[in-house]
Amino acid sequence: MSKTNPLIAIYPGSFDPITRGHEDIARRTLHIADNLIIAVAHSASQTKKSLFTVEERVELIREVFAGDDRVEAVSFQGLLVDFARRRGARFVIRGLRAISDFEYELQMAQMNRELWDEVETVFLAPELDFSLLSSSLVREISELGGDMARFVSPPVLARLRAKQGG
Ligand code: PNS
Repeated sequence: MSKTNPLIAIYPGSFDPITRGHEDIARRTLHIADNLIIAVAHSASQTKKSLFTVEERVELIREVFAGDDRVEAVSFQGLLVDFARRRGARFVIRGLRAISDFEYELQMAQMNRELWDEVETVFLAPELDFSLLSSSLVREISELGGDMARFVSPPVLARLRAKQGG
């Protein structure tokens, strides 16, 4: 790591919404990288039903990391590797929670390397408390009126409650 040639990592995902598990991975990344771009993908195929718009998700990430100028939140369209290359980020960060994540993650890492052979995917393990946490569970529990305070940061919690009209 050096100031003249900062190591930039990119953490892509859906982040619908960002959870404390994602935050944990992002903070761990800053132990090994100078700057972090958290990149919310515009999904062309839209297979998952989203709760927040891409703009809302970016906004929430900005609120969660407000005050830390090492972290930037953006959205991107198209291939991750094209976006990463444009931004000078060779390291893609992904959280690995359990063995069930592994096949999908390995497939993506290898495909991304096929697309751009200079990209490296770095897998980080989350804090044990967050190893079963996912945005889809957060959405489901929130929709059913469960308490999400342990799993998301205050700005996200407020927005979830507003979505549920509470
Ligand atoms: O949080 P998710 O939904 O598991 O994140 C998946 C994501 C956004 C990282 C992946 O779908 C992606 O990189 N999308 C951008 C389009 C792309 O590059 N697809 C090829 C991946 S090998």
